[in-house]
Amino acid sequence: MSDPAARVRALRDEIAHHDYRYHVLDAPEIADDAYDELFRELRSLEERHPDLIATDSPTQRVGGAPVAALESAEHVAPMLSLDSSADPDAFRQFDARVRKALAAAAESESEIAVRYSLEPKLDGLSVELVYADGLLERALTRGDGQIGEVITSNVRTIRSIPLRLSRGGPVPPLLSVRGEIFLPLHAFDDVNERLLALGKSPFANPRNAAAGTVRQLDPALAAERPLTLFAYDVLEGDGARAEADVRTHDEVLAALRGWGLPVNPENTWADGADEVLAHFARLAERRDALPYEIDGLVVKIDDLALRRRLGSTAHHPRWAFAIKFPPRKEVSQVLRIVVSVGRTGTVTPVALLRPVSIGGVTVSRANLHNREDIERKDIREGDTVRVERAGDVIPQVVARVDEGAERGPPFRMPPTCPSCDTPLESVGPYTVCPNAFECPAQLVGRLVHFGSRRGLDIEGLGERTARQLVDREMVRHLPDLFDLDAAVVEDLDGFAEVSARKLVAAIDAARSTTLPRLLYALGIPEVGAAVARTLAQRFGTSSALRAADVRALEAIDGIGPIMGAAIHRFLHETRNADVLDALQTLLETAPIVVSTDDAKPLAGHRIVFTGALERFTREGATELVERFGAAAGSSVSGKTTLVVAGTAAGSKLVKAQELGVEIVEEEGFLAYLADHGIDTTELEAGAGA
Ligand code: IVH
Repeated sequence: MSDPAARVRALRDEIAHHDYRYHVLDAPEIADDAYDELFRELRSLEERHPDLIATDSPTQRVGGAPVAALESAEHVAPMLSLDSSADPDAFRQFDARVRKALAAAAESESEIAVRYSLEPKLDGLSVELVYADGLLERALTRGDGQIGEVITSNVRTIRSIPLRLSRGGPVPPLLSVRGEIFLPLHAFDDVNERLLALGKSPFANPRNAAAGTVRQLDPALAAERPLTLFAYDVLEGDGARAEADVRTHDEVLAALRGWGLPVNPENTWADGADEVLAHFARLAERRDALPYEIDGLVVKIDDLALRRRLGSTAHHPRWAFAIKFPPRKEVSQVLRIVVSVGRTGTVTPVALLRPVSIGGVTVSRANLHNREDIERKDIREGDTVRVERAGDVIPQVVARVDEGAERGPPFRMPPTCPSCDTPLESVGPYTVCPNAFECPAQLVGRLVHFGSRRGLDIEGLGERTARQLVDREMVRHLPDLFDLDAAVVEDLDGFAEVSARKLVAAIDAARSTTLPRLLYALGIPEVGAAVARTLAQRFGTSSALRAADVRALEAIDGIGPIMGAAIHRFLHETRNADVLDALQTLLETAPIVVSTDDAKPLAGHRIVFTGALERFTREGATELVERFGAAAGSSVSGKTTLVVAGTAAGSKLVKAQELGVEIVEEEGFLAYLADHGIDTTELEAGAGA
């Protein structure tokens, strides 16, 4: 394009649109690669034209330099707190006060049910986002309600927060958006796992993790943790309502959504206290199913005029009330410390507790993470400890509250595996049983994983079957699976003649597989489906992978030293050698083309996808063919070499027929890829996932 300024603007709008689709609506329209391509183009234009760089460019999200300390600043208007109680009766009293005030104003008794907006009370931290002329200018923590800490650089890294307000009509010159920043539970687990792997203390709960991240002094570190936000209020610069014609909270939320800010889709409304409490009860039941931590229900009067009439105390508004869930932390006593062996061989210390009810669930076991963490906290049998649980996450012992009167000795890891007696090994702060394929504690899980859909896809090899095979010693190590006889399988619970024959046939069929599937199926530490594909493409054969040294593994993009070392250790563990050798003989893995810069088997091909695809996604297929050198286009021309037609293909198909371009259906496309030596596992796996 001739006008770089125009192209830069167009790219920013397009990227902001895709950020919104992905991070706010959770409904992306394009593949990651296509997004990255837009980003690269913008970055390179900005490099060539530095005068075009602007603070609202998506390339400038992680721009801030590390600081020595956070500064303070005053809020546009005070950030109040909420009146709250865990007692539903306290909420009924609140509702009675509201109705009384209503009645007094109307000079008649009011039995009218008040309309309330209901929002999950997010357990994160509240922030004020100040937008000046639509641009994110400043972000502050709540602080003391008047003055907060400036966290703008860190908040700019949160991709669900627009750097420039968009969409819906005119934007007032100064807006103060209020909302809650939080860390989704899966991200909380990842953050803690990484901290533990580095030998550091994990965060006690997602709120601490979010608060710690937002107050990071180095924005680059904050950018690594996928914080997000739900907005729940907006004020104009003078503290008044954003728009005069906004009459309800519902309309406030609509305005926030219109500007491209994320608003919790769980928000709803109810008429009167009974409906509110019924919703509270339903929410309490769904608490564990939500992907983020909540600690209650915020109930707000929907009618803004009524709110104004009620006003606020110095501490909280009189028009809102939070009904709280019971807290998810409790104190209990450690009766014993035992260790448990996971599917991948990690040996985890577990505290057996005096049973205690935490947020409605009786907890009698809690995670002590690893040797170093338990040492750091110095937790021993007899101690009184604080236990927390978040979502479905296994409860964890967070800290010692008191030493026991009769404390046990400091905890020591057993020297050998409690399941198979193999000497245990230390890997950083962790302890592992290296007997991957024979340790009974690992074998059941490993068998199930081996036969899983993304692994060797052996139908009928579920948990129940795997457990029987291991318990009856029909499978003592993984390759025994291939010696199973239908007559023996028939004796297992849940099997008959036909199903037994089917399982044995499925196992037999799995002998011919692909390298990415095999690598995934092995359950190598750190190797999921994506890493398995990367390894397969880099090395091509299992022998080449086994011959690779740590350096070669570490050097792979996306692997790095921790994963590289773990993979290398697994592949070179002497106990694993026999099993790996045996599997190499038993299984036949289809040859795979290693994708390097000089091996692009589809170079020169121009492919167009059209119609509805079922066996794989268009994004996945586009990404794959591009990786192998083809160009994927959206319109058919004389240069097109292949058209892949799904169901209900229309004009492009007709054009291809007119031009005599080769046309294949999905099946034919998979065959075409295979003909060019390209593994199709990832395509089909990606579609069902
Ligand atoms: S409204 C003036 N809505 O709860 C009242 N607060 O204990 C403004 N919170 O500081 C608060 N989710 O951090 C509101 N949907 C929600 C909320 C929410 C979580 C937090 C917020 C506030 C605290 C009060």
